[in-house]
Amino acid sequence: MRTVSTIAPSTAAPADSPKPKDKIVKTQASTLLCKSLLLAGMALICGSATAEGDVEAGAELGYTCLGCHGIDGYRNAYPSFRVPKLGGQKSEYLDAALRAYRAGTRPHPTMQAQASAMSDEDIDNLVAWLATFGEAADMIDGDSVAGIQVATICVTCHGADGAAVVPAPPVLSGQHADYLVHSLQQYKSGARGGNVMTAFATTLSEADMKLLAEIYAAEDGLSTLE
Ligand code: HEC
Ligand code: HEC
Repeated sequence: MRTVSTIAPSTAAPADSPKPKDKIVKTQASTLLCKSLLLAGMALICGSATAEGDVEAGAELGYTCLGCHGIDGYRNAYPSFRVPKLGGQKSEYLDAALRAYRAGTRPHPTMQAQASAMSDEDIDNLVAWLATFGEAADMIDGDSVAGIQVATICVTCHGADGAAVVPAPPVLSGQHADYLVHSLQQYKSGARGGNVMTAFATTLSEADMKLLAEIYAAEDGLSTLE
């Protein structure tokens, strides 16, 4: 679903903002499913943020996000890399990413500006809305990177196909390769610090990063918010 054709970097949403109604319905159904799974003690499958946030409020706040995250292949100007895909990303990770931009521990001028005005409730609502674009669990397709030597350590946390069931590590499968390289460079340089990835990224050469990024990007997985 393509809802905007121009870049809308401001927070003001046009009055005629289309709402992804079909997807809201889907979430209500999956939220119900999650509730019964939670009762059955299967909390791991359902992001807690998905159960808490208000999808409609998130969709309203999120309209502005589509100006970049809703345009397939849209590029960050400098350094040049494609804006990350968010469709199907794990709720726990999206929540952590928005909080890191808000706290200033993760650099990026636009995303910090977007996040600086968000309340905890806004983040919950945005994450609930983002969850309507797909679920990581759907991407586990057995398309394994496990045989690739440089990826051996990555598999421990990101799973054999880049979409592990554990909540914290983000889905890598289907992400844009140039964005993955950018992320790994940021971990290696320390620009994006305070988490486990620094230790793993420092061991990677530029060639390793490009190879890993190509492998993950070639898999089925994440999608642009359309
Ligand atoms: C002007 C373009 C632009 C807009 C508008 C924008 N983003 Fe982003 N977003 C980016 C770029 C570029 C990055 C990668 C930044 C970096 O280097 O960390 C990013 C990163 C992210 C990430 C981290 C993804 C990951 O894989 O780590 C999340 C989550 C995110 N944006 C959510 C949002 C939400 C929610 C909104 C709306 C409130 C929004 N963005 C609006 C350009 C944008
Ligand atoms: C101990 C667990 C662990 C291991 C091992 C690990 N990762 Fe990660 N990875 C994480 C976590 C947790 C995050 C989220 C960190 C954050 O909040 O920035 C992450 C984030 C990432 C990201 C950022 C994705 C995005 O959307 O911005 C990339 C890329 C990545 N890892 C690639 C790798 C690669 C390649 C390897 C192997 C060399 C690897 N990881 C090994 C846990 C791990």
